[in-house]
Amino acid sequence: MAQRVCPWWFGYFLASPIRRLIHDPRKILAPHIRPGMAVLDMGPGMATFTLDLARFVGPSGKIIAVDVQPRMLEEVRKRAARARLLERIELRIAGDDNAWASDLAGRIDFALAFYLVHEVPDVAGFFALLRSTLTPGGRMLVVEPIMHVSARGFADTITAALKAGFTVVDRPRIPRSRSALLSKD
Ligand SMILES: C[S@@+](CC[C@H](N)C(=O)[O-])C[C@H]1O[C@@H](n2cnc3c(N)ncnc32)[C@H](O)[C@@H]1O
Repeated sequence: MAQRVCPWWFGYFLASPIRRLIHDPRKILAPHIRPGMAVLDMGPGMATFTLDLARFVGPSGKIIAVDVQPRMLEEVRKRAARARLLERIELRIAGDDNAWASDLAGRIDFALAFYLVHEVPDVAGFFALLRSTLTPGGRMLVVEPIMHVSARGFADTITAALKAGFTVVDRPRIPRSRSALLSKD
C-alpha cells in the first residue's frame, strides 16, 4: 500500500512525552470523542494518540489502530497492554487489498489521520475508503506536518477529500500543522 512510510524507529520520537507538549491529545482530540465511540486511528505509529483515544472512548468504546508496519502495531500492543487498555484496542494491518476495512462499512464514528496522508500513495482511494467506514455524520480529522506538506500540497489533499464526498467543517489550529475536520455529510 504505502511506499514512503516513516521508518519504524522514528515512531519512538513521535510518541515521546515531548511531543505531547506540542500536540496535547486533550486539546486536539478530546473535543471530538465521546464515551462509547468507535474510532479509527489510521497510522498510529507507536501509539502516539492511541492510548489517549482509548481513555476518551472509555470501556464501552473501541479503537481500531491500522498501520502498514507490523513493528508499529507490535509497539502499540505492548504499550496498550502496559496501560491495561488492550481490551479497547484492536490492531489491524493495512494491506493493498483494503481487507482491514471489509467489516467496517458505516460503523466508525471518528477517524484520525495524524501525519499520515502524505505517506499514502493513493490519496483519493484512501479518502473514499475512510468515508465508507464512517457512520452518517461521522467525522475525520486530517493533520499534516508543515515541514513535509506545503499549503498547496494540503489544498490538494482537501480537494481529494471533497471529491470523495467529505465536507470541511472546521480548520482547527494545531501547532506546526495543517489540519481539517471533515464530515461524511
Ligand atoms: C509519520 S507516522 C505518524 C504516526 C502518528 N500518527 C503520529 O502522529 O505520531 C505515519 C504512520 O503511518 C503509517 N502508515 C503509512 N502509510 C499507511 C497506510 N497507507 N495505512 C496505514 N498506516 C500507514 C506508518 O507506518 C506510520 O506508523
